[in-house]
Amino acid sequence: MQHLPLQSIRGNLSLHPVRAMCRFQLAVTMSPSTGHLENSIPKQALVDRFSKFSPSPLSMKQFIDFGSANACEKTSFVFLRQELPVRLANIMKEIDFLPDKLLSTPSLQLLQSWYATSLMELAGFLEKDPDDKAILKKFTGTLVNVRNRHNNVVPTMAQGVVEYKEAFGSDPVTNQNVQYFLDRFYMSRISTRMLMNQHSLIFDGSANPAHPKHIGTIDPDCDVTEVVKGTMLCEQYYLTSPEIDITQVNAKGPDQPLRIVYVPSHLYHMLFELFKNAMRATVETHEMALHLPPVKVRVSLGSEDLTIKISDRGGGVPLRKIERLFSYMYSTAPSPVDVDNSRNAPLAGFGYGLPISRLYAKYFQGDLQLYSMEGYGTSAVIYLKALSSDSVERLPVYNQSAIRHYQTSNEADDWCMPSKDPKKLGKYERRSQ
Ligand SMILES: Nc1ncnc2c1ncn2[C@@H]1O[C@H](COP(=O)(O)OP(=O)(O)OP(=O)(O)O)[C@@H](O)[C@H]1O
Ligand SMILES: [Mg+2]
Repeated sequence: MQHLPLQSIRGNLSLHPVRAMCRFQLAVTMSPSTGHLENSIPKQALVDRFSKFSPSPLSMKQFIDFGSANACEKTSFVFLRQELPVRLANIMKEIDFLPDKLLSTPSLQLLQSWYATSLMELAGFLEKDPDDKAILKKFTGTLVNVRNRHNNVVPTMAQGVVEYKEAFGSDPVTNQNVQYFLDRFYMSRISTRMLMNQHSLIFDGSANPAHPKHIGTIDPDCDVTEVVKGTMLCEQYYLTSPEIDITQVNAKGPDQPLRIVYVPSHLYHMLFELFKNAMRATVETHEMALHLPPVKVRVSLGSEDLTIKISDRGGGVPLRKIERLFSYMYSTAPSPVDVDNSRNAPLAGFGYGLPISRLYAKYFQGDLQLYSMEGYGTSAVIYLKALSSDSVERLPVYNQSAIRHYQTSNEADDWCMPSKDPKKLGKYERRSQ
């Protein structure tokens, strides 16, 4: 596969995103296009062009500014008609690094066709007049279509991975590459959905009556403890569930609410998955017990971090297996029971609860970690940024380091592997190259 010398291109363009955007638009308008851009430029050429630009991460403040009283639909349109194709094209370039046999599954073929169609539809707005109200309306309609088209991206991709694994098995190199790719692919998807939701919610002309202060999907005053309580109410997986105890700690004062600027639906997603896991482990470990040990939640706000710790006494997981719990390749196809229970969570059973939740946490520079004591229980900790100025999108970019990742992961381990054959003790092995 041939690759462009991205480093040098980016060196020029990513210095100043606005200047880069102007140059790019010039290049597109000057192309010999007649009529619609999407008809005149083949898909691969669009991917090549847009992937030469680095995505531009937005901060929470920029998201809020885009949606506050002086929000300008035209500015948002001009930004998105470039930024969305850039984000799509960057990740489409990485799809090519997946194993051929995975790429040729029907699931991956379908998924790639969705991405290609959406890229072409969005790129079709590059030469349109931003002062034309009808164009702005059409753009919002296109965003809704694109979002709906991509609704089933995660289960479709997951299905492709399961099919591939069942047919061809898996090896450490493939596992590592697929894990690296899927973390970036799903993160890219979280980010494009965020952009599309913000624009369509803010500019469709109707305020959200249930949450008038929300800016699109963002709550500028998100009371984290209230979201925790709300999630607990929705958690109805088991007839007998352990109790949930909540304690909150605020460095500014004991009874002060713990508020941050955040996307409540993202927080809800993470909490829902972690509660589900904690409850399942507790119920299964204490099947015979009369009383289930409670799940304890502690929320704390400092000057830098907002931290949520969910601790259960569900028996824990050995350290050796912790990393595996975040692996997409280790997950299995959902069992019929999981499918039946999947009304509230369409992904239930894919084993994607932890990895996708960690991506939501990382999206705005937070994290999600598991600390476990095998034989006792587990604490899952969500770290979020307390300050909106620190909450900036974390986005994958297609560049030489990404390419290197896919190409070098089959090198030998740089730590000695203990010999499994005790007879070899004391005998020297030839160094592998
Ligand atoms: N609190 C916990 N205690 C013990 N084991 C856990 C805990 N949380 C997760 N696990 C283990 O990690 C595995 C992966 O969890 P994850 O949430 O990613 O997927 P899942 O629960 O199997 O399926 P899904 O969440 O998609 O319905 C679980 O199957 C379980 O074995
Ligand atoms: Mg789970």
